[in-house]
Amino acid sequence: YATTHEADIVVIGSGPGGYVAAIKAAQLGMKTVSVEKDSTLGGTCLNVGCIPSKALLHNTHLYHQAKHDFAHRGIETGPVNFNFSKMMEYKVNAVKALTGGIGMLFKKNKVTLVRGVGTIINPKKVEVKGEKGVETINTKNILIATGSEVTPFPGVTFDEQQIITSTGALSLTSVPKKMLVIGAGVIGLELGSVYQRLGADVTAIEFLGSIGGVGIDGEVAKTLHKILSKQGMKFKLNTKVTSVKKEGGKVKVEVEPSKGGGTKEALDCDVVLISIGRRPYTTDLGLKNVGIALDDRGRVPVNNRFQTTVPGIYAIGDCIHGPMLAHKAEDEGIVCVEGIKGMPVHFNYDAIPSVIYTTPEVGWVGKSEEDLKKEGKAYKVGKFPFLANSRAKTNGEPDGFVKVLSDKATDVILGTHIIGPGGGELINEAVLAQEYGAAAEDVARVCHAHPTCAEALREANIAAYCGKPINF
Ligand code: FAD
Ligand code: NAI
Repeated sequence: YATTHEADIVVIGSGPGGYVAAIKAAQLGMKTVSVEKDSTLGGTCLNVGCIPSKALLHNTHLYHQAKHDFAHRGIETGPVNFNFSKMMEYKVNAVKALTGGIGMLFKKNKVTLVRGVGTIINPKKVEVKGEKGVETINTKNILIATGSEVTPFPGVTFDEQQIITSTGALSLTSVPKKMLVIGAGVIGLELGSVYQRLGADVTAIEFLGSIGGVGIDGEVAKTLHKILSKQGMKFKLNTKVTSVKKEGGKVKVEVEPSKGGGTKEALDCDVVLISIGRRPYTTDLGLKNVGIALDDRGRVPVNNRFQTTVPGIYAIGDCIHGPMLAHKAEDEGIVCVEGIKGMPVHFNYDAIPSVIYTTPEVGWVGKSEEDLKKEGKAYKVGKFPFLANSRAKTNGEPDGFVKVLSDKATDVILGTHIIGPGGGELINEAVLAQEYGAAAEDVARVCHAHPTCAEALREANIAAYCGKPINF
């Protein structure tokens, strides 16, 4: 096997940012090497993130529906039970199929894969330490796509069985009776939902006064809180965790009001999931060798062409600024390598969708009402409830609404917020509109198929542009 490779570009990390960038680079005619330290391709997203979590969310949703929702729809079943290890096996197979798929795409596009930890020696050389020894890659360009890792909780060691990160939560061997979730952000709500649907008593402890993490619109967060509470998930908001300890087979979690000063409370549980955010991962990357300094949040600083301070070295995805999302990493990867080939680089951070895959799903793009108030921007609100949408009503999924925020003077859409059936799919239409700089009237005048939940998005745009929807 070759111990030295010659490349036009070395992409370090094969997550959604890195693998997509590698394929694009090869398609643009660059001799491309992808470096990955883990045994499977696909990074956080495919192995321990988006994909396994959605497999569990989908199947626990079906189970929950069969158990609690079928009868009143006139569907009779015998007793409905779940087989947890089979559910996990299904998840493993979903992951395997997709991570294996990247290997095939690499072959098809002639991307060379070098396995091992990649370290930048100088701007033209990467060394990879793998099982077979050290391989050297001489290259014209380097793209850093090393992603992120779980933010640790001070003083707490994860055993991934009782004190767990999202990775442990995706591989438990049984459903805990009582589960505490620290951080009611995206991971806490999604994985909390999974176990709550399977019968666990789930309480989420959140430092802030609202759930859903960064960027969510306040009104949507409140509605989500109400709906998830009705489903049985419990919340302790404005609460801070002061210690997490194992004690007599249980985990004891001490909490107090976020502001301090109030009474302390001790909670116990079988499993505690800590989901308080993620941080960039650049361990062993050799940034010091080339003089790249991280910013105050541990991110690799880049300009709007994804160039670091060192010519020929670029960075994208979770290890740079912006939301830590797979589709954001992918799109940055594509425009970054196009930029290396001299093509224009355009990336609109106002048009990146966010989705929380609970039931109902939450999807948003652009500014929230809180953002617009902070900016002092004059805006219009168009709202439409799913209760008045014929399809949602017929399907028995009337919870939630669509809210469109548009510029008061020009009608240009500034943000769209959806909580309701299929919100994660519906939001893409709003993203398209926002990316094209559409006004609310533009979407309002587009013919939408009937009966569909997407008509609620259209109605909210009608309400935003002319004040009144038709069907409500
Ligand atoms: P990563 O996917 O983290 O990939 C980085 C890769 O680089 C890894 O494979 C790592 O092994 C490798 N690497 C690092 N250093 C080196 C080195 N020195 N040498 C060689 N290889 C190296 N996002 C969504 O958009 N939708 C979702 O539904 C979603 N769900 C999520 C659920 C969970 C539980 C979690 C944890 C995350 C989720 N995310 C989701 C976030 C998403 O996973 C990340 O935003 C995405 O994976 C970032 O892609 P990336 O390519 O930047 O980095
Ligand atoms: P998050 O940033 O979404 O949420 C963390 C939550 O924890 C916040 O609400 C924060 O206020 C709270 N928190 C922080 N410190 C705390 C403390 N000491 N005590 C109590 N609460 C505390 O981060 P999360 O959920 O860990 O997810 C990490 C990232 O992974 C997300 O930001 C997102 O980018 C990505 N992700 C995306 C998903 C999706 O797109 N559907 C799904 C899962 C993860």
